[in-house]
Amino acid sequence: MSAGETRQPMTARAGAALVGTAEIPGDKSVSHRALILGALAVGETRITGLLEGEDVLRTAEAMRAFGAEVMRDGPGRWRVHGVGVGGFAEPDRVIDCGNSGTGVRLVMGAMATSPIAATFTGDASLVGRPMARVTDPLALFGAQAVGRAGGRLPMTVVGARDPVPVRYTLPVPSAQVKSAVLLAGLNAPGRTVVIEAEATRDHTERMLAGFGAEVAVEDAEEGRVVTLTGQPELVAQTLAVPRDPSSAAFPVCAALIAEGSEVRVPGIGLNPTRAGLYETLREMGADLAFEDRREEGGEPVADLVARFSPGLRGTEVPPARAAAMIDEYPVLAAVAACAEGPTVMRGVGELRVKESDRIAAMAEGLRACGVAVEEGEDWWIVHGRGAGGVAGGATVASRLDHRIAMSFLVLGLAARAPVTVDDAAPIATSFPDFLPLMRGLGADMATEHVAA
Ligand code: S3P
Repeated sequence: MSAGETRQPMTARAGAALVGTAEIPGDKSVSHRALILGALAVGETRITGLLEGEDVLRTAEAMRAFGAEVMRDGPGRWRVHGVGVGGFAEPDRVIDCGNSGTGVRLVMGAMATSPIAATFTGDASLVGRPMARVTDPLALFGAQAVGRAGGRLPMTVVGARDPVPVRYTLPVPSAQVKSAVLLAGLNAPGRTVVIEAEATRDHTERMLAGFGAEVAVEDAEEGRVVTLTGQPELVAQTLAVPRDPSSAAFPVCAALIAEGSEVRVPGIGLNPTRAGLYETLREMGADLAFEDRREEGGEPVADLVARFSPGLRGTEVPPARAAAMIDEYPVLAAVAACAEGPTVMRGVGELRVKESDRIAAMAEGLRACGVAVEEGEDWWIVHGRGAGGVAGGATVASRLDHRIAMSFLVLGLAARAPVTVDDAAPIATSFPDFLPLMRGLGADMATEHVAA
């Protein structure tokens, strides 16, 4: 069943402390990339810790449609027989990426410099999201795209027969766009260059280098400059996917606001392009301890202990930190609602084009829970009510967005009356075991019966 087909209401109630160890599943961003680069490598790539959420399973299916052999050996253990750079076959079916912006944008990039055509679609959320941000740079390589008005899915991409390398400055801070350009650059001769004003998550660069591509990264005046030498032979790898810091954010934030909690998260990823939330939480007075800092699978990690923090204060999040915590603003807003005073978030226009308009979705639900929110095109302010001050007692819309659903369930663990999300099914796109994990820590969270 995919998100959106059946509504699954879910309710969270305060009262119980969260105590124990949270074993967080694999990183979604890294999982997509492992499958795609595995499919473009020569030989057999072995992956452990792959996130088996709906988004990633769609990408696995897409790689099969382009000719790679993708096999599941056991929980999180996968093998991919790649076709080599330039070896993609033309799919004989429509590529349905479900809810996943990362999946569709990265796969479009990966096929855009091969002489094949593919048609992409997705769920009701994904068909509303902008694709021109990817197809514009792909056109510079020589690819063509025809979709619905406003550059929306469904969309057919015809790959370039004689691709040329590209030098591209990102108009928006987006790791998906950067990655689409780099993946397209793989099958173009010469050097493809992507320049970003702000560093976005760098998993594609790291993993390309790991598969044997020549990738240079330098900090220049114009920003971070990534240069990829095209047409490498990617060599199959053995990859251990790190745990997802964006998923870890939910039990961590829940522990900060639910009285009496203490949650340990082993092996949390601290890649600086992903770790902005933890810096912000610290500035708010969160009781967070990082233990045993080390490297795993080429990524910095630590064990994080999060404890109930009754004295949280609102803060102003520096806009320069936005890219390093872009997926964490919804759950930060839940924490901000339980802090004293306003939390100001600026330079976050990108939140309006995620799985939902995340500023609008959070503002609407927070107001229904008795929390004042101000918003503008690329900013919002959550006026915190202090510990124990959030009324709750509302049913909020998750808008086909996993992070909106999880953020309100976290808020419900600290609100005076229960918080229900109208549909928790989208959580399966990124964190299929969210409910058992949270309940295992002691959270009072349950699905609601839906009358047939
Ligand atoms: C992702 C990039 C980000 C992020 C998304 C995952 C990635 O999107 O929000 O959840 O894996 O590259 P944008 O590229 O739109 O910022």
